[in-house]
Amino acid sequence: MTNHAGKTLTSSGFYVSQEAPIHTDDPIATPVATPPDILRCAYMELVVTDLAASRQFYVDVLGLYVTEEDDETIYLRSTEEFIHHNLVLRKGELAAVAAFSYRVRTPEDLDRAVEFYTELGCDVRRNQDGFVKGIGDSVRVVDPLGFPYEFFHQSEHVERMSWRYDLHIPGELVRLDHFNQVTPDVPRAVRFMQDLGFRVTEDIQDGEGTVYAAWMRRKPTVHDTAMTGGDGPRMHHVCFATHEKHNILAICDKLGALRRSDAIERGPGRHGVSNAFYLYLRDPDGHRVEIYTQDYYTGDPDNPVVTWDVHDNQRRDWWGNPVVPSWYTDASLVLDLDGNPQPVRARTDSSEMAVTIGADGFSYTRPDEGEESMPEWKQGEYKLGHQL
Ligand SMILES: [Fe+2]
Repeated sequence: MTNHAGKTLTSSGFYVSQEAPIHTDDPIATPVATPPDILRCAYMELVVTDLAASRQFYVDVLGLYVTEEDDETIYLRSTEEFIHHNLVLRKGELAAVAAFSYRVRTPEDLDRAVEFYTELGCDVRRNQDGFVKGIGDSVRVVDPLGFPYEFFHQSEHVERMSWRYDLHIPGELVRLDHFNQVTPDVPRAVRFMQDLGFRVTEDIQDGEGTVYAAWMRRKPTVHDTAMTGGDGPRMHHVCFATHEKHNILAICDKLGALRRSDAIERGPGRHGVSNAFYLYLRDPDGHRVEIYTQDYYTGDPDNPVVTWDVHDNQRRDWWGNPVVPSWYTDASLVLDLDGNPQPVRARTDSSEMAVTIGADGFSYTRPDEGEESMPEWKQGEYKLGHQL
């Protein structure tokens, strides 16, 4: 059990507090310029090495809708989407992420994005015609954390497929829900995202104040992106939402029937963080895709911030199922604006894997009983030496 001073312990086992300024020993200077008013995460541009294999995964298996495609690029969207796409698959030599793209409220917010990132000394490029099909005037930047972002307002509108039940499949993906990014210094990243206008909804900490991960929103859900502590900058996953839990189980059944169960990395399960039902898949290049449903509304200004103890074995899986090591260690490279991979810097704070399932790690089910509240057969799941 750890000490989370200033927070209120709930009967569910996590803590709540009001959002406070995040302390970091290595802050990025807050720009004087006003940040752009971001509406939501809108799409990710992924570089894939085998376009046909990726098309089979995202279209034939997961059922995303093809808005437009050619020999080099496929533009995909989810059921409810009315902008041109939520995912761009672009053929390339190196599997990586070219852009985390956010939609902003007005065209003027693109001027704000230019000012904001120029003041920070970032590489900033603007293309009045858009960097990809279907999207108008856009700004691309590499932020001080090393991530490639895009901001846009104008998009071609396409048909929302919600009413086309004749086309829906049991595992229908209805919305893009969020991104998840890997960064070595989570408080530094969160402070910067707060300057960009994001609000923290949940995080994972220990009693000494080490922050292992944090979830942040613009739209009123648990998140538009999360910062996960690890070697970075890298992309941890991109996430699509279904309407119901049974849609996620249907995806698992379909993957089994197709003898593609090796695409399932973790889950299905119920998250502690976010309360959502989840499944993690790996695409043919190893890019991680989460399928997710039923998190909660977070739009009030005094929405309580949820803090989980890193040793709480229900934080990442409410049923106490272990997190597979690859989920902690693997992530996709991200590119700069010229298409070169960004160098990856090692995390220096303790890793979540080390403090929970590493040699000296521990987890509890019931905090008052400590590690002894885990039966012997469950202690140290995935620790080296515990496998048969
Ligand atoms: Fe996620």
